[in-house]
Amino acid sequence: MKILFIGDIDALSGRQAVAKLLPQMKGDRQIDLVIANAENLDGLGAREVHIRQMQEAGVDIFTSGNHIWDDPDITPLIQKEDSPLLRPANYSVGTPGTGARLLSLSNSKKVLVINLMGRVFIPQSFDHPFFKFDEIMEQFKGEEPDIVFVDFHAEATSEKRAFGFYADGRATAVVGTHTHVPTADAQILPKGTAYITDVGMVGAKDSVLGLEKEAVIEFFKKEASVKTLVGKMSPNEAEFSAVLIDIDDATDQAKSIELICQ
Ligand SMILES: [Fe+2]
Ligand SMILES: [Fe+2]
Repeated sequence: MKILFIGDIDALSGRQAVAKLLPQMKGDRQIDLVIANAENLDGLGAREVHIRQMQEAGVDIFTSGNHIWDDPDITPLIQKEDSPLLRPANYSVGTPGTGARLLSLSNSKKVLVINLMGRVFIPQSFDHPFFKFDEIMEQFKGEEPDIVFVDFHAEATSEKRAFGFYADGRATAVVGTHTHVPTADAQILPKGTAYITDVGMVGAKDSVLGLEKEAVIEFFKKEASVKTLVGKMSPNEAEFSAVLIDIDDATDQAKSIELICQ
């Protein structure tokens, strides 16, 4: 079976690119499951209307990250028991929503989708993502998932690679998100886990991580607060960055991982 994972979908230009490209890609490449990171659907945060638009385009389930609470409109959706939107599992106890969901696909495969947040160079506080992964694996052991898919949303390449090796042989795939820049290390790790440090984004091509480049240059020149960048999403046409993971139907092992950038 094939899983497509789409990197952080960023604002209007990102949403438009997904709506334009995904329906045909899903058919042409015979994709069984589409997972996308939704933390920037509305630039900073996401709105329920955008989640619905992306579902119509073909996304089945959404992961997120540190920006998911920036738009309070999203909280009721995250709180729903069958919500299509996950938030990182290692937010502290009491945070609304869940960071792990077991999906039963029409091809009879059970896919456990896990969303975790790294801690290096991240200002907010999170529980330990490595131990949270162990905890979730133990929690779902009785359900016997065929495939375990992890979106590890983190800033530091070292933390993401270390987690990839930590989960190697236990997760079917570990993909990194958050930096919005794809890395050139898509690979199958020694014990069989499909891995990439960062998938990249679906967001404005001529931009800095989806933001207007002029505003970001000023931000760095003045060493200003990040707040000065609010509302500075670039309207430019989007690049589309995703990974396609091919999984052997007999063994449930990842056969390949391909970075798709267009
Ligand atoms: Fe992001
Ligand atoms: Fe992020």
